[in-house]
Amino acid sequence: MSPSAAHAKYSELLQLVRQRNLLGSTASVLGWDQETMMPAGGLEHRSNQLAQLAGMCHQMMVDPTIGELLSACEADPNLTADPASPSAVNLREIRREYILATKLPQSLVEELARTATVSRSQWVEARKANDYARFEPWLTRIIELTRRKAECFGWPPEGEAWDAVADLFEPGMTARSVAAVFTPLRQQLIDLVGRVVATGKKPVSPLTKLKFPVDQQAAFVRQVAEAIGFDFHRGRLDISAHPFSSGFHPTDVRLTTRYDPADVGEALYGVLHEAGHGIYDQGLPVEHAGTPRGDAVSLAIHESQSRTWENLIGRSEAFWRWCLPRLKAAVKGAGRLTSRAVWAGVNVVQPSLIRTEADEATYNLHIMIRFELERPLMSGDLAAKDLPEAWNARYKEYLGIDVPNDAQGCMQDIHWSQGAIGYFPTYALGNLYAAQFFEQARAEMSDLDEQIAAGSFAPFRGWLNRKIHCLGMTYRSADLCRHVTGRELSADPLLRYLEQKLSRLYPI
Ligand code: CO
Repeated sequence: MSPSAAHAKYSELLQLVRQRNLLGSTASVLGWDQETMMPAGGLEHRSNQLAQLAGMCHQMMVDPTIGELLSACEADPNLTADPASPSAVNLREIRREYILATKLPQSLVEELARTATVSRSQWVEARKANDYARFEPWLTRIIELTRRKAECFGWPPEGEAWDAVADLFEPGMTARSVAAVFTPLRQQLIDLVGRVVATGKKPVSPLTKLKFPVDQQAAFVRQVAEAIGFDFHRGRLDISAHPFSSGFHPTDVRLTTRYDPADVGEALYGVLHEAGHGIYDQGLPVEHAGTPRGDAVSLAIHESQSRTWENLIGRSEAFWRWCLPRLKAAVKGAGRLTSRAVWAGVNVVQPSLIRTEADEATYNLHIMIRFELERPLMSGDLAAKDLPEAWNARYKEYLGIDVPNDAQGCMQDIHWSQGAIGYFPTYALGNLYAAQFFEQARAEMSDLDEQIAAGSFAPFRGWLNRKIHCLGMTYRSADLCRHVTGRELSADPLLRYLEQKLSRLYPI
């Protein structure tokens, strides 16, 4: 085939993919609307709309024309010779999506979707009633179907069923690669947390002592999001029960948060987190929008960006030197606060029951527990009926906590109820990538702290943009990590960061 013929096929392929993604981003608008604006009565119609669009997207992706165009393009070295070129990146990722979409029979897709909807509502009721027995048969069913899904995709002989479904969330992630990072980290975190707890020091966040009306909080957190670089000309911030971020396109990115009148930290850290996701989506290359080259790498890399702004920046002493005067201007009664006291208050380490409320030092232990249970659930070595006992034993062993009931134990998260098995580790990997990227940024920008304390966030944001955002999916996460830091992903930067910060806050 002549180069021009191959290029024509490549353009045709991209056009089909762009059409599919246009429809997909339309569904995302409806998803955002459902969480923020839609009246409760609209739920059934909205489910029908979303199911219709999901079906259409799936049909467009399994179109045999895509398979033919892919094969023709892959045969042309001009398009694939440089693996980091936009064409090679797009062909690699479209091929992956095509394989995943065509390997799953429509009947299984539908059965999973139906079961997940019922299972999710059973989980809501069972959690409310603290009745694990009611949820257990649904979890068993979900695991069976997820196992069938894994078998459709298959896994290499040295791998396991978990790998096949985890790969959907994080391309290339395997249980073995996750365990290689988690296993050494686990004991070191348990030791670190143990040393902090042994000091008996329990600072209280001064932020919880402010009377901060919700409308004033909203103006304040918007100001912070704007200052760190979230562009409100190409984005919005609204309210939802569960905060999230949704990027339809680099020119339209939606954030949500929730407000607690008794604790501005809820909205502030929620917005820093979601704005971190949003800044990534706004920084993706607009000229490649709708193709993999213009898309985010993975869930873990996305989470690394949210955690960077929420924790590495937002829980730093330098950030509070900048932020506190703004807080004092925004709310009465903050006049006596010191940046040191607020900084200590937002870095309290305390083993706790609930993952979403966990601090930086204990958070990854919550994830490891879920990871260590997902693997045997998927392999069949752990039955759903034995989950609570296994869960509670690990909370005792790793966090020193007695789990009082299953609602606050193994039923606390929504993920498994809707079939998201293999998802949790992406949160912890996000924390690890964030720490490793940040250590590298520090090495390259010697005055980073001074810039943050001065409210000059643009240079660091520019660094993230050049090193990560503008590359889209050029590199898979493990390769991106090597590209940005020159090293494999490791838990050491996170441990160094936690040791350094906590040793200034606690006599450890
Ligand atoms: Co997030």
